[in-house]
Amino acid sequence: MTADTPAMHLESLAGVSPTHVFRDVLETTTAYKSRSVVSFTGWSTLLLVERADVPGAEFVAKGFFGYHSVIDAAPVELRPELHGYYWYRQLPEQAHRYARDQFVQEANLLSRLSGSPYFPRLVEMNLAAPVPHYVMDYLPLGSVRQWLAAHGAPSTNAAVAFARRLLTGLAVLHDAGYVHRDINAENVLMADDGPVIADLGCVRALTAAEPRSPKSALISWPPEYDAGYHEADFASDLYCFGMVMYELLTGTMPRYGAPPLRSVATEHDPRLVDLVERCVQWRRDGRPQSAAAALEALS
Ligand SMILES: Nc1ncnc2c1ncn2[C@@H]1O[C@H](COP(=O)(O)OP(=O)(O)O)[C@@H](O)[C@H]1O
Ligand SMILES: [Mg+2]
Repeated sequence: MTADTPAMHLESLAGVSPTHVFRDVLETTTAYKSRSVVSFTGWSTLLLVERADVPGAEFVAKGFFGYHSVIDAAPVELRPELHGYYWYRQLPEQAHRYARDQFVQEANLLSRLSGSPYFPRLVEMNLAAPVPHYVMDYLPLGSVRQWLAAHGAPSTNAAVAFARRLLTGLAVLHDAGYVHRDINAENVLMADDGPVIADLGCVRALTAAEPRSPKSALISWPPEYDAGYHEADFASDLYCFGMVMYELLTGTMPRYGAPPLRSVATEHDPRLVDLVERCVQWRRDGRPQSAAAALEALS
């Protein structure tokens, strides 16, 4: 990245934040205008944007890597300070390359799946921009977690319809040769007609050999990620599917001593309750082995 990037006019650290830099890059290189910040995780920056030539439409622009983009788009003389501020810059160069490769894969895969109703619609992408990014439709209902907080648990029939649709989306992803690896209530969004699988940033291509990379456990992750994140398979996604469903039905996740679902979700369809319990098994071979097999259990 050269110093004469669109964010050149930044003169002090005041106001230098990933969202600031991304907004600056976006507004100087595209027709999008930023309205607000949707999310900043440190790993990515998401802005709610609109454009004058498409009145009334709202989009979300997702920019690669909050901190890394800030450092690269900032004036050269500010970079050392930013390195200190964004201490995780100390990550080895290899980790940066991996993150960039994952973002490129995320955007390209979304482009491939974008015509399908189970994934957000990609509007455009620019991976060569000072902050690599893509733009997708804005889904105002937000993530499943946000939806759940606003609406509470769905009815029996709505829960089964939700599960069917999420499994169908997973089957599409799996048939394309990918494991999502990070299905959770924040990475599944809500559309009027049901769940939409977003955040393809952790996907594993089944054809690619990845080095072993131990991960510290997240509550929504299956136990095999502790040692085998690089080998995640369909059954790993089905565990995460089970966790999303458990949360949808009960408002919580089962890892830490939550009661069996059948004892707390008594009003729900027993086929669904049984399926979710099988999906959240710690042993991979106790779970359904494919999204299609899980779907069959609900037919
Ligand atoms: N198209 C969208 N419409 C509405 N909200 C979105 C959209 N995409 C993402 N979000 C919100 O932004 C959050 C972060 O997006 P995500 O793609 O998961 O980024 P990250 O890779 O940083 O986790 C999501 O959990 C969701 O709440
Ligand atoms: Mg996410």
